[in-house]
Amino acid sequence: MKVAVIGAAGGIGQALALLLKNRLPAGSDLALYDIAPVTPGVAVDLSHIPTPVTIKGFSGEDPTPALEGADVVLISAGVARKPGMDRSDLFNVNAGIVRSLSEKIADVCPKALIGIITNPVNTTVAIAAEVLKAKGVYDKNRLFGITTLDIIRSETFVAELKGKDPSNVRVPVIGGHSGVTILPLLSQVEGVEFTEEEVAALTPRIQNAGTEVVEAKAGGGSATLSMGQAACRFGLALVRAAQGEKDVVECAYVEGDGKYARFFAQPVRLGKDGVEEILDHGPLSAFEQEALDSMLDTLRKDITLGEEFVK
Ligand SMILES: NC(=O)c1ccc[n+]([C@@H]2O[C@H](COP(=O)([O-])OP(=O)(O)OC[C@H]3O[C@@H](n4cnc5c(N)ncnc54)[C@H](O)[C@@H]3O)[C@@H](O)[C@H]2O)c1
Repeated sequence: MKVAVIGAAGGIGQALALLLKNRLPAGSDLALYDIAPVTPGVAVDLSHIPTPVTIKGFSGEDPTPALEGADVVLISAGVARKPGMDRSDLFNVNAGIVRSLSEKIADVCPKALIGIITNPVNTTVAIAAEVLKAKGVYDKNRLFGITTLDIIRSETFVAELKGKDPSNVRVPVIGGHSGVTILPLLSQVEGVEFTEEEVAALTPRIQNAGTEVVEAKAGGGSATLSMGQAACRFGLALVRAAQGEKDVVECAYVEGDGKYARFFAQPVRLGKDGVEEILDHGPLSAFEQEALDSMLDTLRKDITLGEEFVK
């Protein structure tokens, strides 16, 4: 397998590259690309780690050498939040970056599985889809918005609150990846009961956890290390499924049946061609149903913004 990390010199990209260098299956190739001139050096640095994964780094204007032959492309290129910004403030810069990278992917590795980290994910995924469609290579099963950070945060916070081992806690998170569109399904966490007060406090904490990091970093950026871990978990799930492992299930922001919105984060079974099956999110509590109903306007507007941008 060849995995390309785009935006690889950034906070997320470097953490993700380090984790992938250590955890990709033996014989994999890892390619790093970023406009920053340090990128080949990041790859040389990582190449000294003794794992059976080859790594090459590329910088400059053209991502083609990193994308050539890529099976999986993970994109974290763009600007991150500063205190006082929400994810939609990133749109003006990041929309253009995702558009031009998607054009390159369409030309160079149209069959790759694409995972988008660059915010605002609710919108950047729609941009990538429209660009790929215009190029005649869009396959909705191969395009993912990576929402895994919402999942690992939920798992951590639930484990903390309930005194559990976080590695045994699973929390599905549906909707999108910003503010009210992030909906953790706490009613579905196995072996744990929550009071109404706990749900009312924990849900917004998960929705605003990114802002917790932005404020704590005091102008130094947003979540990078936990996001690197989240993107590694999701990227490895894509790789494992592509290599034939059965029953690989993760939540991700994908184009599904359109029941709620064109793109929606939900549990999906992954296979060698990406999404194999969209899984039902299961029964919702009254609190979750209300949260779902009231997020849809926001989510649909975020998606339309991306579609209109490309048109
Ligand atoms: N999906 C999520 O859950 C999630 C979580 C945290 C952050 N993010 C987003 O991820 C993105 C990256 O965050 P970060 O903290 O790593 O930022 P960063 O500024 O540390 O790194 C971004 C990198 O992108 C590079 N870059 C810019 N334009 C590029 C282009 N055209 N081609 C290739 N590389 C390019 C920059 O040189 C930089 O190295 C931001 O948009 C941020 O909002 C997403």
